[in-house]
Amino acid sequence: MMSGWDSEKMIGLAERYGTPLYVYDLAIVREKIRKIREHIHPAVCLFYSLKANPNTTLVRKIYETGTNLEICSLYELKVAQMAGCSPKHMLYLGPGKSRQEIRQIIDCGIRYVVAESMQELEVINQVAEETGKSVQVGVRINPAVAVKGARLQMGGAARQFGIDEQQFDEMAALIRRLPRIRLTGIHTYHGTRILSAQVIAENIAYILQFADRVIERHRLTLDYVGVGGGMGVAYFDGESDLDIARLGHLSQRSIEAFAAKHKGTSILMESGRYIVAEAGMYLAKVLYTKVSQDVHFAITNGGTHHHMAAGGMGNAFRKNFPVRAFVPERQQVHRYHVSGPLCTPNDLIAKHVSLPQLQPGDIIGIARSGAYGLTASPVLFLSHALPREVLLDGGHELIVRERDEYMVPAVRLVM
Ligand SMILES: Cc1ncc(COP(=O)(O)O)c(C=O)c1O
Repeated sequence: MMSGWDSEKMIGLAERYGTPLYVYDLAIVREKIRKIREHIHPAVCLFYSLKANPNTTLVRKIYETGTNLEICSLYELKVAQMAGCSPKHMLYLGPGKSRQEIRQIIDCGIRYVVAESMQELEVINQVAEETGKSVQVGVRINPAVAVKGARLQMGGAARQFGIDEQQFDEMAALIRRLPRIRLTGIHTYHGTRILSAQVIAENIAYILQFADRVIERHRLTLDYVGVGGGMGVAYFDGESDLDIARLGHLSQRSIEAFAAKHKGTSILMESGRYIVAEAGMYLAKVLYTKVSQDVHFAITNGGTHHHMAAGGMGNAFRKNFPVRAFVPERQQVHRYHVSGPLCTPNDLIAKHVSLPQLQPGDIIGIARSGAYGLTASPVLFLSHALPREVLLDGGHELIVRERDEYMVPAVRLVM
């Protein structure tokens, strides 16, 4: 998967488009989607989670592969619409949807609308009343059991997400009293960054068994059951990539059994990171090098304002993303702290990383940066420009986001 990132190509891209720069390779994205389709049971409908990377062109290219879109905000909805996505292929989630958001969701006829609390169900019912429409809703369930191997857990404890599994009967009774809504889906998302096929397969089996039970108990006719996903990629030393073939094998039986028994019910699965993470490289240029108290620093023009995840966000202990130096062969190697231009000691995109001796003008790359890069970073901190994003599509290099010097167009100077 890493073979496309050779030094000459990366230096060429950095020269042509400037740094800092995000580069995405569509061949890798397509390959990851192909792998999911090859190994996961064909009854499963795949959704790409825009939160991982909402770049409009990238989203369009993913949608063109026949992948549906999972969205969580009105801006993501706009991106999905710009990407040409039909509302039939949209799944809309989020624990804090505003009334205005719900109105737009209803108006545009999104097929898979998932509510996350009882009060939200009541608001959906009220808004539906105002529009004179009836709405089919799914509910997100907060499973009673926590997932073992997720780096980020989303269920199985007190959560702002979904309705507790134990409250299902109460929720079903509420929906029966709300004339404008009908329960047509069940959704879960146990957690993310899961590298164990076994754990994901267990989550899938768990929710399918749960859905089977409540379908019978409440005589439901469900359009869909969302089994989550959480498929991870390895970032750090000691981690191994998820074995997707094994996941396909381990989840085959539960999916097959559910699909055979509930023929009209689609099984939805979401993935952001697994589809795009490996397809992205963040390139930055070394501006200065120096030694401070025996530590070698490479100060670059890229930093945590563009790539917070590489700065350790979300991890209890700081670990390095895979870092590459796109430089000619050099004799000496040092252990570097790679920092950015921000005035905070936390602006380190790698720490104690062994790299060939660096000099000003060298290009370094943070690999596996296609997911939760720009989208999960404090881009306004210190008010540096947003970087360009370039998408490699076969022999084409497409600028899919311009460098943006003026990031706050909504700000006003009030005298
Ligand atoms: C409900 C939901 N769906 C999908 C995703 C995407 O997760 P990932 O990018 O790890 O596949 C997330 C991530 O937080 C999520 O909360």
